[in-house]
Amino acid sequence: MVCGSRVAVIGAGSVGATISYALLIQKISSEIILVDIVDEIVKGQVLDLSDANFISSTQVRNGTYQEAGQCDIIIITAGAKQKPSETRVELIERNYKILDNVIKSMQPIKPSAILLLVANPVDILTYIAQKLSGLPKHQVIGSGTFLDSARLRLRIASELGVAENAVHAYVLGEHGDSQIIAWSSAHVGGKKLLDFPELRNVDKDKVAKEISGKAYEIIKLKGATYFGIAGCVSSLVQCIILNQKHVRPLSTFIEEYGCVLSMPVVLGSNGIEKIIEIHLDSDEKAKLKQSAISLKEVCDKYVK
Ligand code: LAC
Repeated sequence: MVCGSRVAVIGAGSVGATISYALLIQKISSEIILVDIVDEIVKGQVLDLSDANFISSTQVRNGTYQEAGQCDIIIITAGAKQKPSETRVELIERNYKILDNVIKSMQPIKPSAILLLVANPVDILTYIAQKLSGLPKHQVIGSGTFLDSARLRLRIASELGVAENAVHAYVLGEHGDSQIIAWSSAHVGGKKLLDFPELRNVDKDKVAKEISGKAYEIIKLKGATYFGIAGCVSSLVQCIILNQKHVRPLSTFIEEYGCVLSMPVVLGSNGIEKIIEIHLDSDEKAKLKQSAISLKEVCDKYVK
């Protein structure tokens, strides 16, 4: 996929534009096609991004939904964003319609394309996109709890004084309020996280609230989040283009629950290659099941 990989970014708001900028800096795709229903915004973003073209070998231009449908990776950011204290699930009514239109406008979608959902509620929209796009489920992926897991790793890394990538810890389930932290399987250097004396006095429920509430905090302070998600998405694009097979917590269909939620998966150039069955203790399992039930309830309203 490396030579000539084309990436489409649907939605030229702050998330779409920041993802495009991160991809530009990354210099891995040959072309980024930015698409939006509002002409002025997409033209403005492309003009602005083109001023940074001299630092990159990646070309950025605006394009049509039809052109986007023929790209190797299609990133969907289009949709309403959360207002302060609004939950991600509350966006479904508006963002379902937008997703439906986007997918219809891109048809026929290139059969080998990877559809990467970023708009919220990302798990529910990924489930809907799996049904509407006609692509195999392993090619329709949501950014899921990758960002929440990055937030968690940052928090633990600072507590232990180690690098973030030394922390193997996952946030799973919904990219939203019902997410869970898989504390029992988390480790650093092969040592269980819960055995570190530095973490003995840390209130785990408080950390969980801090992680699931971080987006709310950022939205309250500056109106939107976009740098974190752009870092996550550009690294996922790299993983797909270079067939790196990293293990990432991403939104994928889980047979056992009959809905889409985040579990650790192996990501390569064909999309999700494997779902890793992570060990969870009974409390974590019960919470994950609850997260799945709440997601499935909403999914079932939209897709029969
Ligand atoms: C966040 C948005 C991407 O968590 O949902 O920052």
